[in-house]
Amino acid sequence: MNLKDKIRNIEGFPKEGIGFKDITTVLKDKDAFKYSIDELKKMSSEVEFDTILGPEARGFLVGAPLAYATNKAFVPVRKPGKLPAETISYEYDLEYGTDKLEIHKDAINKGDKVIIVDDLLATGGTVLSTIKMVEELGGEVVGIYFLMELTFLNGRKHLEGYNIKSIIEY
Ligand code: PRP
Repeated sequence: MNLKDKIRNIEGFPKEGIGFKDITTVLKDKDAFKYSIDELKKMSSEVEFDTILGPEARGFLVGAPLAYATNKAFVPVRKPGKLPAETISYEYDLEYGTDKLEIHKDAINKGDKVIIVDDLLATGGTVLSTIKMVEELGGEVVGIYFLMELTFLNGRKHLEGYNIKSIIEY
């Protein structure tokens, strides 16, 4: 299957000059959705891991089904103020301003091997922030997997030394 055929491009969203890669057209196509999770499962089968982290919100849509399919645990990475127990956070720079993500402090144990799964690698800020939190808690990131990667944004530049794979590239 060519997943690119299933991803809808919306020009000018959320603002002028941006072509938004819409995965709702993948999710509503049962074969494309299954193919996506199956491909992520193949990628993750190359490493040993305990836990999958998925960043809010689209990372939940691929991370949770992958956790079910691989019989692993799932940890949500959330935007600030959403998680009820004790959290750690990491703030990262955006083109204009900063953004912050959080995970529960007890979500990762020292020595845990984790993978991070998301729909999209763009600038890499989301994943870098997630890596920092995992490592602060003593976990090890053994794989980072995406449905798609916008290579022209050079997200990998911030992620040197990590095992990164994407199903498709733009
Ligand atoms: C999108 C996407 C990734 C992130 C990638 O999430 O789902 O998590 O951006 O961009 P980056 O590599 O530049 O960090 P977004 O923050 O739009 O949130 P959403 O999933 O809630 O829509």
